[in-house]
Amino acid sequence: MIRILFIGDIIGRAGRKAVQKELPRLLAERKPDVVVANCENLAHGFGITGDTIEEMTTSGIHCFTSGNHIFDKKEARTLLEDRPYVLRPMNYPPEVPGNGSITIPLPEGRSVTVVSMLGRAFMPPVDCPFRTMDRFLEKRDTDIMLVDFHGEATAEKAAFAFEFDGKVTAVVGTHTHVQTADERTLPRGTVFLTDAGMTGAMDSVIGVEKETAIRRMRTGIKEHLTPARGRYWVCGCEVTVDGNGHAAIERIMIKSKEGE
Ligand SMILES: [Fe+2]
Ligand SMILES: [Fe+2]
Repeated sequence: MIRILFIGDIIGRAGRKAVQKELPRLLAERKPDVVVANCENLAHGFGITGDTIEEMTTSGIHCFTSGNHIFDKKEARTLLEDRPYVLRPMNYPPEVPGNGSITIPLPEGRSVTVVSMLGRAFMPPVDCPFRTMDRFLEKRDTDIMLVDFHGEATAEKAAFAFEFDGKVTAVVGTHTHVQTADERTLPRGTVFLTDAGMTGAMDSVIGVEKETAIRRMRTGIKEHLTPARGRYWVCGCEVTVDGNGHAAIERIMIKSKEGE
């Protein structure tokens, strides 16, 4: 049995502290072979820094997917070139630094390939995720493959999952920061969850301070958003693949009682 633990968008300090508190128990209980997390909101809600990535690798995360916020901090460009385990969406133009996939070797000749893909509905323009995935699958003979489809629209994520049903092991959505309860196995065996949800402050508007978010909505005036603190939740899922190659998916949502 091969186990992949996936953690949804880790948001700012509250998200990182939540990972540090909860991941040791998840690792001990589930013994995952590969731990993947979406890092696009890791550093104060916007993008990544070397320190925050290191904090998370020290906690036990092997590989990071991302999304539309990955280049919010300038240092991401060099970070992505130096750290192949930190992915940017595969369907950014080819001249953008970094890679959209990584293959992690496992014992006995097995491997897990992780792909980061960005949707196009209500998102900055990027290359077609469907055609990008077609091209990627053409050139490779992969074993287990998990795609993080980072998108706003549920329909786009479902269409992508059905299009690649039977060709990839798992399609897990991110970006909305709200976990959906629709995990399932598609007809050709791919497991799918529309959104894994976020890891960060629970009493927040998708991870940011609720007061600022409310003010922005009432007035229409843009204000800088700050990640919230306090009670957290850790949201994600576990994908398992048994000896016959059958995949299964289980949602994970851990809610804290008190603040970090
Ligand atoms: Fe996010
Ligand atoms: Fe996003």
